[in-house]
Amino acid sequence: FHVDWDIVTAEKAGFDHFMLKEIYDQPTAYRDTMGSRISGENDQVVLNEIKMTDEEIKSIDRVHIVACGTAYHAGLVGKNVIEKLARIPVETDVASEYRYRSPIITKNTLVIVVSQSGETADTLAALREAKRQGARVIAITNVVGSSVSREADDVITTWAGPEIAVASTKAYTSQLIAFYLFGLYLAQKLDTVEADEVKKVIAALQELPQQVESILEQAEQIKTVAEKISLHNNLFFIGRGLDFSVVLEGSLKLKEISYIHSEAYAAGELKHGTLALIEEGIPVIALATQEDVFEKTVSNIEEVVARGAYVLGVNQEGNEELAKVVNESFTIPRTLDVLSPALSVIPLQLLSYFASLARGNDVDKPRNLAKSVTVE
Ligand code: G6P
Repeated sequence: FHVDWDIVTAEKAGFDHFMLKEIYDQPTAYRDTMGSRISGENDQVVLNEIKMTDEEIKSIDRVHIVACGTAYHAGLVGKNVIEKLARIPVETDVASEYRYRSPIITKNTLVIVVSQSGETADTLAALREAKRQGARVIAITNVVGSSVSREADDVITTWAGPEIAVASTKAYTSQLIAFYLFGLYLAQKLDTVEADEVKKVIAALQELPQQVESILEQAEQIKTVAEKISLHNNLFFIGRGLDFSVVLEGSLKLKEISYIHSEAYAAGELKHGTLALIEEGIPVIALATQEDVFEKTVSNIEEVVARGAYVLGVNQEGNEELAKVVNESFTIPRTLDVLSPALSVIPLQLLSYFASLARGNDVDKPRNLAKSVTVE
């Protein structure tokens, strides 16, 4: 099997590292992944690649999302998106665990496997088990012709282009875009969201690429914070709801390439034990982009501030409250809460990149890790 790309496409295009280039590729990756899938008067999602009949779609009574690493984190966002838009119960599993927990799979179960490479052994094994038990399987993958894409019933390709850096960036965000499109697609088929509301989400989706560009213009601000945190060996990420899913990814990214130990916590759960580890000067990266839990998140941030933590807070612009509480604040452009992961992860990617750089690590090829893991 052969993937068609040449050295010119793969080169760093003037960036110091593939990871940085891939972070900056994201606006294009978002546009390409949305591409012709939004049609009509920008009020409809069309996924011709899904061959399910309307009857089959209506019969789905549960969704299992299965993936590894960063793709698993995209799946956590996917769960929230599908439940919110299509009102179908969703579980997200790490692929290496899925098969061994006797998941309840029936012919009305839709299994979505997510894999950048389409070659991850654990994910492929989960896909085969799901099919063996009669589930319909959709693959979200970045590699046309990959094993996962060949074995799934339907494939939603993310058009992120080749991703070379071991730490995934543009593949993750393109997977988010795929979930938004698929969530809207289901919502249209199942009539779970009003047409006006669908239109609103589509309009907000289409603003994302330009909003990512505006975040990237503020990279220097993140670099300053990254250089400070690169001097620490331990830190925390906190957030609630969708922000919690995003901080899990932010923490993984930082571990992968900077080798700084970090833990991502649901902000409200800190007080049940982890608060014991908060001491003077420990960095805490706090996401507070979700309107409905904003006040609660701020209370949780105050708990760590009171114990001397050095806090970087990230929220949507236009809300001045967070900046008053934290040491450093970074704002992302305003969007719908459900779409904020596609923006809030960008500063976290930059934070990992600059922290890794400050520590003199091999950003693109972190120790012990492989881009694609083909053993179980
Ligand atoms: C490896 C990579 C991770 C990636 C995971 C899943 O562990 O180092 O960056 O998230 O595999 O890869 P996939 O290709 O299935 O998305």
